[in-house]
Amino acid sequence: MSFEGGDGAGKSTQARALADRLRALGREVVLTREPGGTPLGVELRQALLHGDHVDPRAEVLLYAADRAHHVASLVRPALERGAVVITDRYLDSSVAYQGSGRDLGADEVERISLWATGGLLPAVTVLLDLDPDVGRTRLTGDPDRLERAGDDFHRRTRAAFLARAEQDPGRWLVLDATLPVDELAAHVFARVAAAGGFADAVPSASSGAGAA
Ligand code: TYD
Repeated sequence: MSFEGGDGAGKSTQARALADRLRALGREVVLTREPGGTPLGVELRQALLHGDHVDPRAEVLLYAADRAHHVASLVRPALERGAVVITDRYLDSSVAYQGSGRDLGADEVERISLWATGGLLPAVTVLLDLDPDVGRTRLTGDPDRLERAGDDFHRRTRAAFLARAEQDPGRWLVLDATLPVDELAAHVFARVAAAGGFADAVPSASSGAGAA
């Protein structure tokens, strides 16, 4: 399953809380993130977030490269051995940030990411929805390259997440990120538990869409 949302929405806190809860139930949990879930990904993350200007099309491809390597080397093997994978951001971040934020076209960006991952989609995606003005006040440290992208960019990104969630309610759970942490965690756990068998069938890299 994946967590999505704007910066400062509390994704990492919720991802850790869910991982702790599932581990307490005896599940193997792989808690990971994009970009940067693998050693190669850490290098790509550094270039994407803390390097110089990156052309928007190159940005799409670098996030997709991070994702392809992440899925092939970490996510698929974990799902195949029955672990639960919790990823802090996945393909929907590219569709929202690059497709809508950068205005490159959601469908095209989605196709690139689906090609990169061999069609692997999460069984559950939780959107922690937050007004970007509020998100900004929650950030600590120097803003990274994406966090500096401007108010319009972040408003488009938020709208894109919400529209995407509305189109596919079977996969998405939208939560108001201003709710108390424990309340959010309870909603997330209930949804993940309801999705049944936490690690769903894994499509092979050459087949169509599947679940993570
Ligand atoms: P994140 O790890 O959530 O940042 P932080 O560690 O500061 O909480 O995400 C890094 C940034 O990368 C975030 O601004 C969103 C952006 N991003 C994209 O633009 N496209 C993508 O495909 C992904 C995965 C992230």
